[in-house]
Amino acid sequence: MKKIMGSTFILRELTLEDWGEVHSYASLEEVSRYQSWGPNTESQSLEFVQAIVDEAERRPRTRYVFAVVHLEQNKLVGSGEINIRSIHHKQGEISYIIHPDYWGRGLASETARLLIHFGFHSLELHRIFGTCDPKNKASARVLEKVGMLKEGQLRQNIRIEHAWRDSLLFSVLAHEWKVFSERS
Ligand SMILES: CC(C)(COP(=O)(O)OP(=O)(O)OC[C@H]1O[C@@H](n2cnc3c(N)ncnc32)[C@H](O)[C@@H]1OP(=O)(O)O)[C@@H](O)C(=O)NCCC(=O)NCCS
Repeated sequence: MKKIMGSTFILRELTLEDWGEVHSYASLEEVSRYQSWGPNTESQSLEFVQAIVDEAERRPRTRYVFAVVHLEQNKLVGSGEINIRSIHHKQGEISYIIHPDYWGRGLASETARLLIHFGFHSLELHRIFGTCDPKNKASARVLEKVGMLKEGQLRQNIRIEHAWRDSLLFSVLAHEWKVFSERS
């Protein structure tokens, strides 16, 4: 099992036993407000975690989902993932969710940093990107804080219920990350 140390938390791979703690935030309206899923029922959270566990066994592996486990409280407080979107073009995408009880403490930003480091160093990616709803100011701020550049706004690329939604697109390249991570 892969483990990555943060300052106040550890990232370790999500397991099926985690589904209840995942449900504790995936069932909240404020967490899924800008997403195309949720708020989840119990069976939707269980199915979601089962799919992650199944995908971790596929080869080549393209999806790595980590639980954010608060070290002092020994509690799962969120998750972060990196998906390889193209093996040939070495492109990856990150995303993250933090339980609202833990918002505003820098957990998502540190999670994103660790995922990007993992993506460039262990997965040997060339470009890593992240997207968010233009209204999701906290997520856009996280992507900026970790050294990503805003590439632009994707038009109506997401459907939520019966409405189309735009996404902001941010990215960082391997050589930019080297400079950014040495400075910060
Ligand atoms: C987005 C999310 C992950 C942020 O988690 P977090 O741990 O609170 O994030 P951090 O503390 O690392 O950083 C948040 C930054 O956004 C800023 N922020 C928060 N709300 C904001 C708002 N309404 N407007 C502008 N900035 C805002 C914070 O001030 C902070 O920036 P700063 O460090 O410069 O002050 C969390 O809100 C969440 O899980 N939301 C639901 C799921 C989601 O939207 N995930 C992203 C998928 S695109």
